Amino acid sequence: MTKINAAITGIHAWAPEYILSNKELETMVETNDEWILSRTGISERHILKGERKGTSDIGYEAVKGLLEKTNTSPEDVDLLICATVTPDMQFPATANIISDKAGIKNAWGFDMNAACSGFIYALESARNFVESGRYKKVVVVGADKMSSIVDYTDRATCVIFGDAGGAVLLEPTTDNLGIMDAIMQSDGSGRVHLHQKAGGSLKPASHETVDAGEHYIYQEGQAVFKFAVTNMADVSVKIMERNKLKPEDVAYLVPHQANLRIIEATARRMGVEKDKVMINIQKYGNTTNGTIPMCLHEWQSKLKKGDNLILAAFGGGFTWGSIYLKWAI
Ligand code: UT7
Repeated sequence: MTKINAAITGIHAWAPEYILSNKELETMVETNDEWILSRTGISERHILKGERKGTSDIGYEAVKGLLEKTNTSPEDVDLLICATVTPDMQFPATANIISDKAGIKNAWGFDMNAACSGFIYALESARNFVESGRYKKVVVVGADKMSSIVDYTDRATCVIFGDAGGAVLLEPTTDNLGIMDAIMQSDGSGRVHLHQKAGGSLKPASHETVDAGEHYIYQEGQAVFKFAVTNMADVSVKIMERNKLKPEDVAYLVPHQANLRIIEATARRMGVEKDKVMINIQKYGNTTNGTIPMCLHEWQSKLKKGDNLILAAFGGGFTWGSIYLKWAI
């Protein structure tokens, strides 16, 4: 029997219009452009403004553009997975809200919560639905309105995050293209270093939790940095070795954009030159589930059919992983 592969056949991404610059942040907290740029690589980030705008609005823009670009009728989509840590609501799933807004009526959907690794976790999940032969058109969305959980009085986190999202269409192919391999990992003991303290069943939201700012991101930056550098690089090197890929075989590394120093360390360990690394952190900051599709969207015109791409991410949980794919468009 011919092997069915899952291939990305379309990509679109979207970032809100408003730009929050390092200069503007200087007026909000005690920070400066030089510190932010040298420690993170970020110059600006996009923020979703407006009453009652949520992650589904970002996801919807990405999905709408994706369906248009790929000439896909919303009725033909079988499944939509949304990777997010900032769902519109605790329930129902943001995947269902995006589907409703986009006119996707004949599909089922669910959310994937794996923090910054959510997009690659969702892609690996979607791959298996497609490879099984049962699903022909699967949409994977990575979107976050990080500004909804950022404390803009905390200089250690507010300079890092931004809002954006992207979506890909996954379809079956019998060509030797698409997702070739994936390594996904998690270690729940890392939760102490990066989490949201209140608002879940462990500590439901109350006046006290809101007064204590426990609905915001809590991050021990240095501890997370150490795990991110080691694990993102390890898993990327491992996927290259197991697929016998040399640095010159890799067209692009597509890393999660959390910190320029983490990206550079990963590329160095892989032996991949900087001009083969997708980096747009300077313009968007860390958009959590939006970073990898935002990069693919921005680099799409440079990609050729058959290009070997390595996607890599590390995030809260801890979660991390790497995907090796052959570009199929
Ligand atoms: O995406 C998911 C996973 N998340 C990550 O991968 C994030 C990993 N961590 C990081 O990227 C970095 O740890 C940060 C960017 C969060 C922080 O950078 P750092 O180089 O680790 O800084 P630090 O936390 O060690 O702080 C160094 C100093 C401190 O001052 P003292 O104690 O040395 O006087 C901080 O108070 O920098 C200070 N600082 C700032 N100064 C100016 C912290 N934030 C700021 C700021 N502006 N925004």
